[in-house]
Amino acid sequence: MTKLNSSFKIGDVVIPHRTVLAPMAGVTNSAFRTIAKEFGAGLVVMEMISEKGLLYNNEKTLHMLHIDDNEHPVSIQLFGGDAEGLKRAADFIQTNTKADIVDINMGCPVNKVVKNEAGAKWLRDPDKIYHIVSEVTSVLDIPLTVKMRTGWSDSSLAVENALAAESAGVSALAMHGRTREQMYTGSCDHETLARVSKAISKIPFIGNGDVRSVQDAKFMIEEIGVDAVMIGRAAMNNPYLFTQINHFFETGEALPDLPFAQKLAIAKDHLKRLIALKGEVIAVREFRGLAPHYLRGTAGAAKVRSAVSRASTLAEVESIFAQVG
Ligand SMILES: Cc1cc2nc3c(=O)[nH]c(=O)nc-3n(C[C@H](O)[C@H](O)[C@H](O)COP(=O)(O)O)c2cc1C
Repeated sequence: MTKLNSSFKIGDVVIPHRTVLAPMAGVTNSAFRTIAKEFGAGLVVMEMISEKGLLYNNEKTLHMLHIDDNEHPVSIQLFGGDAEGLKRAADFIQTNTKADIVDINMGCPVNKVVKNEAGAKWLRDPDKIYHIVSEVTSVLDIPLTVKMRTGWSDSSLAVENALAAESAGVSALAMHGRTREQMYTGSCDHETLARVSKAISKIPFIGNGDVRSVQDAKFMIEEIGVDAVMIGRAAMNNPYLFTQINHFFETGEALPDLPFAQKLAIAKDHLKRLIALKGEVIAVREFRGLAPHYLRGTAGAAKVRSAVSRASTLAEVESIFAQVG
């Protein structure tokens, strides 16, 4: 096994473990970020924030910026497509929030985002990446990072896009091994991630896509050569994966998976944190979409899922869980 320092740095920010919680809209609010952090995520990334929402003082957007004192280091991800808007939004984050890092989303595939020149739309134009990223770094004292996909419809610009961001001054780069066209289909393109990893020399490269186990993380770090792994969907099913991966890289030992009852306890804790953040009505409604991830792969999951989808209070969810736990 490759011996690794467990920590690495993004600019001056020390990231204590080589595991990163991926930004996920509707999921990585401070309720879930604090859970991921407690299980050992080295860095947690906020769900993406609209640059325009920030600048127009949209109340919902401003509420999303809440950061708990226990989350650091934490990064806020912006999506937007023009230099002026992104510069002002990045400066707003630096001045008015507790974020340690600002990130730009260059991977979101959805039409609503790409038609505003944001998200994955960046991937068609390495010159735009270079120029706008240079401008945004010029207004920031805290590090700027970017998260991108391998390309728009193929990976022919993957290395060029990554090098454009690196030479424009980003402090780390994360790449999801899929194109915009793939959305979430197919499997992670490890070959392209390995090419990018080889090309990037000055900053940490964070590999993302389909990391669901310690073995997947080991493959990304040892074979693809990434400095850290970013985990999205698997963390929604099992935030304990951060502990397992960190432990493996620090000791070489594999920890057993958590028993189902403990996973349910994490799910319940997640709901309680969401209630503290958003109130019971909204929290339980959102939890209906989150509970299935915790239950995935367990006997009777469909029945529990369906019961949770009709629940509207914490007490109801607790009583449903008590019947299976
Ligand atoms: C529900 C959901 C929401 C997401 N929202 C964002 C987002 O706000 N910003 C972003 O860069 N990527 C977003 N992603 C993509 C993830 O960050 C990640 O790149 C992708 O899920 C692949 O990693 P995984 O295989 O570990 O899930 C989202 C993914 C999911 C499943």
